[in-house]
Order: sequence, then C-alpha cells, then structure tokens
Amino acid sequence: KIHPVILCGGAGTRLWPTSRRNQPKQFAMVIDGYSLFQHAIRMVDAEAFAAPVVVTGADQRFRVMEQMGRIERAPGVIIVEPDARNTAPAVLSAALHLHSVDSDALMLVLPSDHRIPDGEGFRAAVAAAADRAAAGDLVTFGIRPVRPETGYGYLELSDPSAMAAGVPQSLVRFVEKPDAIKAQAMVDAGRHLWNAGIFLMSVRAVIAAYGAHAPDILAAVDDAVAEARTEGGFLLLGKRGWLQATSISVDFAIMEKASNLAVMPYNGAWSDLGDWASVWRDGGPDDEGNLLVGDSLAFDCRDSMIRSEVPDQMVVGLDLDQMVVVATNDAVLVAPRTSSQRLSMVVNELRKRE
Ligand code: GDD
Ligand code: MG
Repeated sequence: KIHPVILCGGAGTRLWPTSRRNQPKQFAMVIDGYSLFQHAIRMVDAEAFAAPVVVTGADQRFRVMEQMGRIERAPGVIIVEPDARNTAPAVLSAALHLHSVDSDALMLVLPSDHRIPDGEGFRAAVAAAADRAAAGDLVTFGIRPVRPETGYGYLELSDPSAMAAGVPQSLVRFVEKPDAIKAQAMVDAGRHLWNAGIFLMSVRAVIAAYGAHAPDILAAVDDAVAEARTEGGFLLLGKRGWLQATSISVDFAIMEKASNLAVMPYNGAWSDLGDWASVWRDGGPDDEGNLLVGDSLAFDCRDSMIRSEVPDQMVVGLDLDQMVVVATNDAVLVAPRTSSQRLSMVVNELRKRE
C-alpha cells in the first residue's frame, strides 16, 4: 500500500485574515462542507492507500485529531513538529518514520491546501506512477500551466510531446517559484508543467536525496525521529534535533537539486487554494468576473472578490476592478487581486507589531 503523508502545517499567511495562527488555512477554508485538510484526507481514502501520516505543528495536533474524527477517519500516525521548519524537514520526518516500519514503503506527499475534484482520476494517476517511484525516481505531478504564476514550481519536460500521454516521464529541471519574467518565458516555451506540490517517492529514495543534497537536515531530523516519543496517537519529534533543522521547502532543498526526477502529467482539475487570487479563480467568478461570498453585493465591479465572513455585516463593492475584499470579525483586507502573493509580507509585519 502507498502511505499518504499529509502536510498540515505552515502559517497560510497569504489567506489572511481568514487564515490565522490559531486557525490556519487548511482548517479555515471550507469547500463543499469539508475543510481543505479533510478534503486531502478523503482523497486518499481508498483501498490502495494505508492510513495517512499527518505532519503538523504542536498547536494544531488536537485539531487534526478532531477533524479526522468528524469524518470518521483514523490517522496512521500524527507526527508533531516542535516548531515550524517548512516542508523539507516535515517530509523527511515522515520518510524516516515510515522507513523504520517498512524500508520499501512508497509515500505520497499531499499538501492540505488543494482542491482536486476528481478523486478517482487522481488516484488513477498515482497508481500509474507507482512503478516509477518504486524504481527510485522522485515523481512529481504536473499540471498544464495556464498563466505565468510565480507562486508555483515549474517542471521542464525532456519530451513535451509526451505531455498528454498519461505516463510518467523524466524531467530536465525543476525551477521553484520563478520571477514573473522567467515564469512568462517558461509558459511561452511550452516545455513546462506546473509542479502540483504532490510527490510520490520511495522512502529509500527520499532519504538518499537528503543525504546527497541536504545532509545537515538529514542529521538533524534523524536525531529528532530517534528521540521521538509516542503519546496518545501522536509521535512527538525530539526538540534538540528538530531545532537544528534548516527551515526550507522541499522544493528548494531537494527538488531543484535532484537529478532522479520524473513527472506524471495530471490533466484533471487542480487548484492550490493558497492565496486569494486562486480562491477567486477556483470559486467560478460570474459573467462580470466577480465572486461574491457571504453577505456581499457588487455594483459595477469587475474581476473582483468580495467576501463577508460575518453573518450580519454586509459588504458592498462599488466600481471595483480586480480587487479582493475579505471581511472577518476583527479584520478587513482590501487589496488588488494581483498583490495576493505579497500578503505574507504584510502579515509578517503585523506579527512584529504584536
Ligand atoms: N507540517 C508542515 N510543516 N507542513 C507545512 C509547513 C511546515 O512547516 N509549511 C508548509 N506546510 C504545508 C502547507 O500546509 C501546505 O499544505 C503544503 O505544506 C505546501 O506549502 P505551501 O506553503 O502551500 O507551498 P506553496 O503552495 O507555496 O508551494 C508548493 O506547492 C505549489 C503547488 O501548490 C511548492 O511545492 C510549489 O512548487 C508548487 O507549485
Ligand atoms: Mg500551497
């Protein structure tokens, strides 16, 4: 069986003010009645998968339990990070843990800020990539790019004509979060796919990749896993080792450096709901390009999102063009939609002032 590894941490600052420190995006954003985290869990609820490994922060662990309980799913294990260190250490902690149980295990790394409506189609793509992963490649899932997005990773294909074939193929290069000019050039060239942020890999290949490209993280996380203790369904990682681990994403630490990369093209619908621009896009804007959520109204607005999360507070937009308005109980965001990626900077500033 394939072991799903759900990444359920991080700050989710690009969805402020809905996503907060004590209510991060994977729990705060609700689609079709399920939180994004629950959506991820449901996606791998099938015969081919073992019970999921969830990697999360100490302050979120009970929320993870509770949210899984509500949809009647039990975790394999919940790995608890003493502190957020971004995705590179998180992915490795799951690989080391699984390796200690079964050194031949395959893991499927899934973010918890995505919406993939066709679960069956997605699971078929995973199944079709399993042999490649078992053979030692780090398999990414690729999405056909439709705009010069700077928030994603780009996968350069060795043979772009094979894009639609539905079989895994080798990658020339992985470029994480390019600037706007590079992103545009890659979209124009037609040789790239977006990295869906989903990885299928053998735990053996993962550990080898860290050994080659991030030996310091391997040493630190190895110590944290060796010193981990179990407590009521949680695996609490050892603090000493963990705090030595560099805070960096798996994309920058491993994927940009590794040469044994492969991509499985995925042609179904896929959205990363990690910022307001993507929530707007995913929500299916009306004929004027507006997405109205909650108690909100738009007059002569275009390509804008107006979202009221307060039941008895109406939010009205007039003559807005490409704007995002999000009203919560204690904070309101007003920004051009195109500034969505810059919101993390603002939230980090706000935290400094607390
Ligand atoms: N456990 C844990 N700990 N999870 C984390 C942490 C952490 O410190 N930091 C982030 N995560 C989780 C997030 O909750 C999310 O589900 C996932 O890891 C990915 O993090 P994001 O912060 O959303 O990454 P991104 O969207 O900017 O970029 C990644 O995904 C893109 C596609 O969605 C990269 O893989 C890109 O290359 C990719 O295109
Ligand atoms: Mg994301």
